[in-house]
Amino acid sequence: MATETIELGPVPACWTRRHLLGLEELSADEILLILEKAAVFKRLLGQEQKRLPLLTGKTCVTLFFENSTRTRTSFSLAARRLGADTVDFSASTSSLSKGETFVDTAKNIEAMGVDAVIVRHRTPGTPQLLAQNLRCSVLNAGDGAHEHPTQGLLDIMTIRQRRGKIEGLTVALVGDIAHSRTARSNIWGLKKLGANVIVCGPSTLVSPRWAELGVEYSYSLDAILPRVDVLNLLRIQFERQYTRPFPSVREYAHLYGMNRDRLAKAKPDILILAPGPINRGVEVTPDVADGPQSAILEQVTNGVAVRMAVLWLLLGGRGQEMRD
Ligand code: CP
Repeated sequence: MATETIELGPVPACWTRRHLLGLEELSADEILLILEKAAVFKRLLGQEQKRLPLLTGKTCVTLFFENSTRTRTSFSLAARRLGADTVDFSASTSSLSKGETFVDTAKNIEAMGVDAVIVRHRTPGTPQLLAQNLRCSVLNAGDGAHEHPTQGLLDIMTIRQRRGKIEGLTVALVGDIAHSRTARSNIWGLKKLGANVIVCGPSTLVSPRWAELGVEYSYSLDAILPRVDVLNLLRIQFERQYTRPFPSVREYAHLYGMNRDRLAKAKPDILILAPGPINRGVEVTPDVADGPQSAILEQVTNGVAVRMAVLWLLLGGRGQEMRD
């Protein structure tokens, strides 16, 4: 039996999901299962096993209506490393411009024999809409300011690998909380695993209503910094803002940017994360982004393993049943 089959085992019977739409609907056990399998995939990839033929014969389509560097490439690599075929759909050159609806476009793509659609769209709820209309698996790669579940999972995986636990840690999400799908997925996932979560940023981007999700909110990074174990620095999402929520980028960087002076006031072992893309000099200065406390590139590495785990759980189980 191949090493990967021995280490992974079959897709557990407790995993019954066809889609990954958000972390809100996953249980703590489901999140832990994904993280456990992602750790196995990371280990196997580290042993020079760049290809694990667990999804041979499957086809995944990336359907991205927003730009992406990390997520699209990471999903494509994950699928290919599992032996699946991948196709990148290009919205700008598709028949959407001729008046075809989004759902019709997706149904036509599915009719070509696709097993999974990985979708990113500026409109919240788009993955749910596809899941209601397609028979194949749908994976949310970011829907507006709603959720970005694999980003949340890879952030949590990185924290867990660096700290050995999630429970009891204080994790601060800093920045444009109002427009951040990463913030929402982090909150759902981290809270389910027992972390204390603080959302922090200007009052125009951090509503007191976040407390309804069981998180603390703060308008002062300097006030919370001494008790924070993990800092996740979220990008200011200018493309989703109708009006500028603070007087200047310089003022934002002064109040909320992570820099050497602030690092000196933080816990010595503080872990710095950023989902990327980062605006150097705004959320974080280059010396901190590239410094020893930063796990920003480790997050990207973990992203491939997390996406392999998710694709394998969603497609591997049913695939095995069909082969038997
Ligand atoms: N973190 C993230 O989603 O990055 P991309 O927009 O590059 O995919």
